[in-house]
Amino acid sequence: MRAEQRVTGVEDVGPYRLLRVERGGLQPGTPGQFFMVEAPGRLLPRPMSLCLESGGELGFLLDPVGPGTRSLAACEPGQRIRVLGPLGNGYDLSVVRPVLVGGGIGIAPLPYLSRRLGEPPAVLGFRTAWHAEAAELVPNAEVVIDPVLVTDALAELDDLEGADLLACGPEAMLRAVASLSPRAQLAWEAPMACGYGACYGCAVEIDGALRRLCVDGPVLRASRGAMRGLTPVDARPDTGVAA
Ligand code: FES
Repeated sequence: MRAEQRVTGVEDVGPYRLLRVERGGLQPGTPGQFFMVEAPGRLLPRPMSLCLESGGELGFLLDPVGPGTRSLAACEPGQRIRVLGPLGNGYDLSVVRPVLVGGGIGIAPLPYLSRRLGEPPAVLGFRTAWHAEAAELVPNAEVVIDPVLVTDALAELDDLEGADLLACGPEAMLRAVASLSPRAQLAWEAPMACGYGACYGCAVEIDGALRRLCVDGPVLRASRGAMRGLTPVDARPDTGVAA
């Protein structure tokens, strides 16, 4: 569904910004799905995974480091922006022992995912203590800061093999999580222009075949094997999607 929504607030979360818009008739969807959010003054909307849903609002966490995300971060309450979604495939919530794993702005979908799964344990990694302020959005989170890696913390879990890992973050982190658990669910990112399969801007190679990540993903099982052409969340200045 596409709708023009009123911005209800924009607040700082460490170096990130949490953009809130009225929910109106939009469905929040499954955690890990995404919305195409109009960036005022920019040609293309930005894919953003849903971070929070509460009180008639939808919240999107963004890292204002590119023109599009800076434009969104500068929105004023009362401004109206177009929002399309939810789109793509989110996380499979039929998990027994969920453990959420996030890195940097890749934690964006985890607050909503945590709420839907009953606030399971989470392991989050950040570059600095300032970035780690965003961990306040995710209950039951263990936080590690560079140079400690989330995979270092995961290795200390009591029963890692029995855990259902649900991850979002930089490509290197996702590949490391995949090596720990083939059934891990990983939220990937690719450049997106339309968000619904029409432009092929998000085409990536998965298991040797060209796929549109906005349709096949953005959440994929680690067992789907070799993926190329994917861009890590932290390396794309214009999106906060978790892809
Ligand atoms: Fe257009 Fe995926 S973003 S096909």
